[in-house]
Order: sequence, then C-alpha cells, then structure tokens
Amino acid sequence: MVSAKGSPGVTTSALALASAWPRTALLVEADPFGGDVRAGLAAGQWPPAAGLAEAVADLRSMNLDEALTLRVHQPAQWAPPVLAGLGCVGQAGALPWGRIGAELGRVRGADVIADCGRYLPADGVLALLRECGLVVLVTGSSLRAVRSAARLSPLLGRDLAVQAGHPRLSVLVVAPEDPYPGPEIARACELPLLGELPDDPRAARVWSDGDPHWRRFGRSSLQRAARRVADRIADGVGPGGSLARDADGVGVA
Ligand SMILES: Nc1ncnc2c1ncn2[C@@H]1O[C@H](COP(=O)(O)OP(=O)(O)OP(=O)(O)O)[C@@H](O)[C@H]1O
Ligand SMILES: [Mg+2]
Repeated sequence: MVSAKGSPGVTTSALALASAWPRTALLVEADPFGGDVRAGLAAGQWPPAAGLAEAVADLRSMNLDEALTLRVHQPAQWAPPVLAGLGCVGQAGALPWGRIGAELGRVRGADVIADCGRYLPADGVLALLRECGLVVLVTGSSLRAVRSAARLSPLLGRDLAVQAGHPRLSVLVVAPEDPYPGPEIARACELPLLGELPDDPRAARVWSDGDPHWRRFGRSSLQRAARRVADRIADGVGPGGSLARDADGVGVA
C-alpha cells in the first residue's frame, strides 16, 4: 500500500485491513520515512529489538521465516502481527528492498500487507513493490489528495510495468465523498477502485494513535468496511501473493 503527497491514511488503512483479513496477515511497515506503530498503535510500548531493521540483519545468518519468529510482535490479541518499521530516516537507502520483497513473498502461513508510505520513485521501496501481487494506492477524497493521486498513478503504472486498468494496481479511497466519490476518484486516477474506507476518526485513532480499543470496535464503520475490502482482496490474491485470477476475474473494478 502506498500513498501520494497529501493523502494520509496508509498506516491506519493497512492495520485495519490486516486486522480484518480472513487469513493470517502480517503487517510490514516498509515506510522509507520510518515506522509509525511503535509510537502510534503501541503508544511507545514495543519490544526494542522487534522490527524490520533487525530482521534484515538476521538474514545474514538465518532465513526470513526464522527472523520473523524473532522480530514480529503482535501488540494485542485484536491487532495483527506487525514487523515494525525503521527508527531512523535515512536507513531506508541501505536496505535490500527487492530481496525483502522476494523473501516476504515466500513467507509461510501468512499473507503480507506492506505499508510503504508515501511513494517516491527514487527510494528503493519500488523494488519491494515490484514483488507484490497487488499494489494499492491509498488516497483521500479532497481535491488536493485526488490531484496528487492522479499525478502519481501513471508514474506507478510505468514503474511497475502495469497497464492502465489492470487490477494489480488499484485505488483505495479513505473518507470518500469529501467531496469526491470513490468511482470518480478511480476514473481520475485511471485505476480500478478496490474499495472505500469511511471517515471514522474514533476507530482510526485506535490504529494511528493507540487510543483505547472498545468491546464493539469490530462493529465500527471502519472495521466493517475493512472486512469487506479485505475479503475482496484476499479472494483475488492467492497465498504467496500472486493474483489468483486474471484481469477479468479479480473483481476489483
Ligand atoms: N478512515 C479514517 N477515518 C478517519 N481518520 C482517519 C482514517 N484513516 C486515517 N485517519 C487519520 O488520519 C491521520 C493519519 O493517518 P495515518 O498515520 O494512517 O496516515 P499515513 O498516511 O500513514 O501518514 P504518514 O505519512 O505520517 O505515515 C491519523 O490521525 C488517523 O487517525
Ligand atoms: Mg504511516
């Protein structure tokens, strides 16, 4: 999952989707600007050595499955397992993103959702995105957000060698109708519309800022919509990350 300039919501949406995933989903924070969950969802309570940088260092002496058993942390029973992101801006340039992506594609027993943050063609995360079965551009619905997303989508399509309209690259709209509706945004981006997540600040803050979880959190509008979107994606992406069906069969248009 990636975003354009001016479109917050990737981390929240990725966590909501991973928590609502019909199979086990591992959330990997692959944001080159640094991870959010240590300070956000976990409100500062995270095991110090549990993260992506440590897992990458482990790859010198073990395979990724072994590294993940050491470095993945599930902060609460209702939250997904997470490989927390980088602590320092600048670390991203040194990471072997392509290898990380390829290894994550071989993870056993879980689908992987990567929060890749804001997309910059020059940073190395493109190599990870190239390994993904599905790339999702996350955008808000303001004119500013939609304009940025519409500028970015052809660039992403080119960098990923995905033809316009192919479901491997799609758009997820956060807080639609403020003012633009999802289908109009998808048309502006020339991408299939994967789905929409509603404006639900209370539930969103559980993921983004570690606000208290409540008993009926799963029935919040954000979580209900996340389940619908997760089911749709999980249906189209087979274990291992490949699109299980072709452009006509994935059903995300
Ligand atoms: N569906 C939503 N409804 C309401 N508020 C939301 C929703 N999704 C995200 N937010 C809010 O938007 C803000 C930014 O969210 P988030 O941290 O997920 O964005 P981001 O794109 O990951 O940002 P960054 O570029 O800093 O990594 C947070 O305050 C979060 O609570
Ligand atoms: Mg983020």
